[in-house]
Amino acid sequence: MTAAALEPPLLDVDSLLDDMSTSIIVCCGSGGVGKTTTAAALALRAAERGRRVVVLTIDPARRLAQAMGLEALDNTPRPVEGIDESAGGSLDAMMLDMKRTFDEVVEAHASPDRAAQILANPFYQAVSTSFSGTSEYMAMEKLGQLRAQASVHGGSGEQPWDLIVVDTPPSRSALDFLDAPRRLSSFLDGRFIRLLMAPAKASGRAYMKVFTGAVGGVTSVMTRLLGAQVLQDVQTFVAAMDTMFGGFRERAEATYSMLADAGTSFLVVAAPDPDSLREASYFVERLSAEDMPLEGLVLNRVATTAVPTLSAERALAAAEDLEEDGAHEVTAGLLRLHGARMQRRAREQSVASRFFAAHPRVPVAQVPARPGDVHDLDGLRSVGEDLAARA
Ligand SMILES: Nc1ncnc2c1ncn2[C@@H]1O[C@H](COP(=O)(O)OP(=O)(O)OP(=O)(O)O)[C@@H](O)[C@H]1O
Ligand SMILES: [Mg+2]
Repeated sequence: MTAAALEPPLLDVDSLLDDMSTSIIVCCGSGGVGKTTTAAALALRAAERGRRVVVLTIDPARRLAQAMGLEALDNTPRPVEGIDESAGGSLDAMMLDMKRTFDEVVEAHASPDRAAQILANPFYQAVSTSFSGTSEYMAMEKLGQLRAQASVHGGSGEQPWDLIVVDTPPSRSALDFLDAPRRLSSFLDGRFIRLLMAPAKASGRAYMKVFTGAVGGVTSVMTRLLGAQVLQDVQTFVAAMDTMFGGFRERAEATYSMLADAGTSFLVVAAPDPDSLREASYFVERLSAEDMPLEGLVLNRVATTAVPTLSAERALAAAEDLEEDGAHEVTAGLLRLHGARMQRRAREQSVASRFFAAHPRVPVAQVPARPGDVHDLDGLRSVGEDLAARA
């Protein structure tokens, strides 16, 4: 099989966006590949084609956030100014504040006293900002909230949102956000927590007994290891969260089935390099193993050239000739640049074609690399055009 023979099916982005049964689009992929950019570009394009869209972004680059009017990290979707609403669509955007979302969950599911107790707890404060998986979990939690909100009111207009575009956190481990609800609930369910809870449970309502050192064994060892204060924090936290365990698990399951729903579409974003495409392969396989609706691959930042017919070899040879003559420095420089670009393109095409061969049925959209960042609405619009390009 030659590289050139491998043409993947084209991802039909506009059909996806125009299909009113598409209600959630999730952009996932490894770190730094363009998930946030892709999510924002798709959301803008959908809105300008008439959809009522809310985009949930995570850690957008500063300038992009500003361009979308995302100045405050307040967990509330706000209308994006400067979009073309002539087709009847609208665009709201928000940045996820992970800690704030966690707090909202606590406030919504515990009594006011309990909530205040949990929020003030140092262990809670540590867990809610640093437990691995919380940002993925909170992104899904927020998605659930937006989805519930979408059917009731919606954002900038009177009409409810009909499309939610979701960016995902830069996860070291691929697809953390799928595992996160399960991991969080198994952490809360786990052995460590059960050990802590056991003496308290055994002694009925008196959690305090644990702290007074009346119970022996595990707890006193842990008290020595961790210090009484830390242990007390953990136990108060767990006791307070106890009533919410069922809620966490139920919502994790609800989110999971929402993701598996036919109205959801996953797009895997990748850069045309071996690491990123290896990760993308894993995503594609994992999504299909979980029966999650994979829509296609976005291959972002591909090298392009205006003169694809001039080979790297010819360009570099011509540059060398010109340099030997000691003239036409600028032309020689441009030829070298073109040569390097063509070489990069060839390398990219060869890694990409390995992916295409391994996943021949996954539709692909390719987005050329820009000379600079994508940091304003015009930049997003042009990425949107490339995503939807039919050639
Ligand atoms: N096609 C492109 N051409 C040029 N620059 C791009 C392109 N796509 C994205 N970028 C730039 O690359 C950087 C990373 O993009 P982005 O923030 O979308 O990636 P990400 O996958 O969300 O990263 P993270 O995993 O850190 O969240 C940004 O500065 C963005 O402007
Ligand atoms: Mg991002």
